[in-house]
Amino acid sequence: MHTKTTSPCPALFTSNGDSPSDPVTLRFDDRTITAPAGVSIAAALLLNGVGPFRTTPVTSAPRAAYCMMGVCFDCLVEVDGMPSRQACLIPVREGMIVRRQQGASALEISTEGENHGR
Ligand code: FES
Repeated sequence: MHTKTTSPCPALFTSNGDSPSDPVTLRFDDRTITAPAGVSIAAALLLNGVGPFRTTPVTSAPRAAYCMMGVCFDCLVEVDGMPSRQACLIPVREGMIVRRQQGASALEISTEGENHGR
């Protein structure tokens, strides 16, 4: 006999409740999320049921944290306006703004006033 679960899509990970710190609040796209102080952005997003963190530049395939140790680069997000940050390596901070990264992302670098030797 098979039993079906009828609960909505739960978060992939749950906290073990051992965090001694107060939670911090941050923004992810249009959501406000909370996470235990000291966890990585990737852990915070997974705890809050966030799906893909980014899409790939060529095929727009969805990606989310995989290795959680800085090796795979599947967790790239924009953090406080800075693109291509590894969410698994950056601890959450109160008030930080995190955005899903769509495809390739680049910093806008002003070259105004520079002649590059020309
Ligand atoms: S999850 Fe692999 S580099 Fe961040």
